[in-house]
Amino acid sequence: MQSRVVPLEEGKDPAVPIKTHHSKVLPARLLQLFVLFLALCIAFSVISIYSIKRFGVQSMVTTVRSGFACLEEPDTLQQWIRTPSNLMHKMSDEELFWRASLVPRISKYPFKRVPKIAFMFLSKGPLPMAPLWERFFKGHEGLYSVYIHSLPTFESKFPPSSVFHRRQIPSQSQFVEMWTRSIKSVNRVENSGERRCVSGFCRNIEASNDLHCWLKIDALSKVSEWGKMSMCDAERRLLANALLDISNEWFILLSESCIPLYNFSIIYQYVKKSKYSYIGAFDDHGPYGRGRYNRSMAPEVNITNWRKGSQWFEINRKLAVKVVEDSKYYPKFEKFCRPHCYVDEHYFPTMLTIEAAPLLANRSFTWVDWSRGGAHPATFGRSDITEEFFHRIYSNQNCTYNDQPSRICYLFARKFAPSAMEPLLHIASKVLGF
Ligand SMILES: *[C@@H]1O[C@H](CO)[C@@H](O)[C@H](O)[C@H]1NC(C)=O
Ligand SMILES: *[C@@H]1O[C@H](CO)[C@@H](O)[C@H](O)[C@H]1NC(C)=O
Ligand SMILES: *[C@@H]1O[C@H](CO)[C@@H](O)[C@H](O)[C@H]1NC(C)=O
Ligand SMILES: *[C@@H]1O[C@H](CO)[C@@H](O)[C@H](O)[C@H]1NC(C)=O
Ligand SMILES: *[C@@H]1O[C@H](CO)[C@@H](O)[C@H](O)[C@H]1NC(C)=O
Repeated sequence: MQSRVVPLEEGKDPAVPIKTHHSKVLPARLLQLFVLFLALCIAFSVISIYSIKRFGVQSMVTTVRSGFACLEEPDTLQQWIRTPSNLMHKMSDEELFWRASLVPRISKYPFKRVPKIAFMFLSKGPLPMAPLWERFFKGHEGLYSVYIHSLPTFESKFPPSSVFHRRQIPSQSQFVEMWTRSIKSVNRVENSGERRCVSGFCRNIEASNDLHCWLKIDALSKVSEWGKMSMCDAERRLLANALLDISNEWFILLSESCIPLYNFSIIYQYVKKSKYSYIGAFDDHGPYGRGRYNRSMAPEVNITNWRKGSQWFEINRKLAVKVVEDSKYYPKFEKFCRPHCYVDEHYFPTMLTIEAAPLLANRSFTWVDWSRGGAHPATFGRSDITEEFFHRIYSNQNCTYNDQPSRICYLFARKFAPSAMEPLLHIASKVLGF
């Protein structure tokens, strides 16, 4: 013993007897502790088994779950079907589109699914008609979802009670970096009063009658790796984000100058019971229709498939997936529909005509007034908002709905200036029905 201890505890002799004493006592103490521990374990097991038998597994699970609120059950259907509470994510467009294109192969849902309409607002800045929309949506929670695509530089400040609160989708910062607005490049097309952009895509700034052109900065600064960016990308991004909510069944694209013409119940039923999706798809044989077709798009896109229509569409989930998953037509439009082609007037109507012609109504249900002439439809302000104005819109409706003549053709109308908001709120309950 001593020979082992001394090298360690040099010159500390008193320690030695104590150590020998301990080494005799310890095993007995340890044994006692071990037996006590074993007894406790057995007791605990018995209590556990008894309580599981008595109260069921559920209560145990609940206890565990409440203790670790941030842990999720890994294997319930709920996590795949619930509505995403937060629209923010860090997916790139490529990742997002792939994720959004995942489609169940079994068409019957094994849970109660209430189909919703996704209202997708494509806007540059604020939504001046927001108070009118708030009133429109009131009381219809669970039947709609709202998405906003605006420039990332624009920060929306909707209160938590608003239907627009935190409904901005993550937009790619390139939207701002790659595009710049240019009034200089607007030219009159020779021999016609029509004003067109010399290069880039022509976009009017809603609520103003100015013509502006969105130019790719690469066209200006010759930075070639900055590539494809168009209104179509923004629209596809809206669709992809809205597809992430499995209960969204119909997708309506709106601008900040749009207003609803009927109350929510009428619009919901109209969309729900329709056999067709409402997208303008017109075979225009003139220079602004087929004249914009480029033969290099064949054989994916032939001139007989070439369609034109306004970008304000309503499509169902099946068509929305077709738009998001498309890698066949997109490159053709990107390469050959430029710069005098206006891709956002042709891409969706043409590709959907090729992919799903029998499902299209071939008309838009967003009313717009071109009667004043010029490159842009009329914008209505404060002084235009009268009961007669709306009676004129309602009484001129004549179209087919599910192949039958219908007096309800337009569910939304544009373009309304911010000054129209206040008078609209005044007459909404009397004229618009909400
Ligand atoms: C919507 O409008 C229709 C026709 O005006 C009316 O019958 C219906 O009660 C309205 N619905 C709601 C929820 O206000
Ligand atoms: C376009 O025409 C070619 C040749 O006639 C045909 O092979 C191709 O399938 C057509 N494309 C579409 C989208 O109809
Ligand atoms: C088709 O597009 C290509 C590439 O942009 C262009 O060089 C060609 O001139 C276009 N053809 C027509 C008929 O517009
Ligand atoms: C829309 O046009 C396509 C052809 O482009 C046609 O097949 C379809 O039946 C049309 N839809 C309606 C409702 O007429
Ligand atoms: C609606 O339009 C169709 C075809 O354009 C026409 O035959 C019909 O008379 C119109 N109906 C009304 C009520 O104006």
